Amino acid sequence: MPTGRVFNTAQMAARARKRLPRAIFDFIEGGAGSEIAVARNRARFEQIALMPQALRDCSAAHSEVTIFGRRYAAPFGIAPMGFADLVCPGTDRALAQAARAANVPYTLSTAATTSIETIAPIAQDNLWFQLYPGSDEAIAAGLMQRALAAGVTTLLVTIDIPVPARRVRDLTNGLAIPLRPSLRTVLDVARHPAWLLRAARGDRPGMANFVDGKGSLSGLAHAEFVSRQLSFPGLDWRRIEAIRKAWPYHLVIKGILNPQDAVMAERIGADGLVVSNHGGRQLDAAPSSIEVLPAIREACGDRLKLILDSGVRTGDDIARSLASGADFVLLGRPFLFAVAALGLAHGPAAIIDMLRAEFLNTLIHLGCADPAELGSDHLWPGRHLSLRQGSNR
Ligand code: FNR
Repeated sequence: MPTGRVFNTAQMAARARKRLPRAIFDFIEGGAGSEIAVARNRARFEQIALMPQALRDCSAAHSEVTIFGRRYAAPFGIAPMGFADLVCPGTDRALAQAARAANVPYTLSTAATTSIETIAPIAQDNLWFQLYPGSDEAIAAGLMQRALAAGVTTLLVTIDIPVPARRVRDLTNGLAIPLRPSLRTVLDVARHPAWLLRAARGDRPGMANFVDGKGSLSGLAHAEFVSRQLSFPGLDWRRIEAIRKAWPYHLVIKGILNPQDAVMAERIGADGLVVSNHGGRQLDAAPSSIEVLPAIREACGDRLKLILDSGVRTGDDIARSLASGADFVLLGRPFLFAVAALGLAHGPAAIIDMLRAEFLNTLIHLGCADPAELGSDHLWPGRHLSLRQGSNR
């Protein structure tokens, strides 16, 4: 797999920074407010040390895990991301294709630039769908019907954008609503002719899942739609409960940080949660998901599958998450940066390969042959580092 001499997600992000117009890079990398949550997501991961364990035969070690009745090649997947095709037309499709080939899940966003019907035959049963319930129940029901018809069995319902975030980078670049690109933004785009050429050849990125008979909503109409419909402060548990009743398969609530919300999710019959602060893109003062994860695991025991996202960047982070109580993780930004850094043909497969290899390397250092063996014993300082005397595995 050609990696273009980039060997981790940090190097991919650094290369993406050079290749993308500043406003697009900022839209992806940026967070809410002063970006304290973004920094905290990384800092809290970096504070967790993992305790290696020596001389345990790991010659048959593997990275496979089972979640929602399906065996995957590794315990990570691609988080839902709206407007991904801003990186390059075809980004959603390339990510879905690579996820299918490598056998990890790809989550299509409600706000994706490619429709459910286009992605379904590409991702096949590696497709998860993310729903913003929004203010309009009929729109949500229509999206769920289309996801069902496309064969989706895992639905992620995102509940952590009751109001649109204040993202200072987007405001500065004029990428907020109403769309008023600053002169600096326009000049900077002109300095990225390769990006411009690719963008000009492709369709204008729009919210392809919202077709109103006249074609998909585009440009400013998208942005207004997002702010009016998707960030809905009136959402409550009754709506989520109704979605639970209507969705016949695996239902996952995305954007939980509060253990009380985790308990509510369990009560209404959710199958899993995504413990997430939306990558630091919503509430800047929020805790990081890795620091609240143990409390959430304690609150809901083993009854719910816990998926973690926000700040996962390495195989070590995946192992840190599983050792802290997660069953699975999602990554967002690194997948878009991989496309920007290495292109549509190589970027998505290269990052999946790289993360899987990093994770397996970590797993073996920890003396585990199976991701399911990871637990609090591997955390240092550990809550209870046991000696497991007499146990060979
Ligand atoms: C997102 N995220 C997101 N989440 C969601 O539920 N629906 C969406 O449409 C989007 N859109 C979106 C766009 C972009 C550009 C980014 C970077 C993120 C959040 C995403 O699913 C995930 O929670 C975070 O990206 C995880 O954090 P990291 O891995 O990016 O740090």
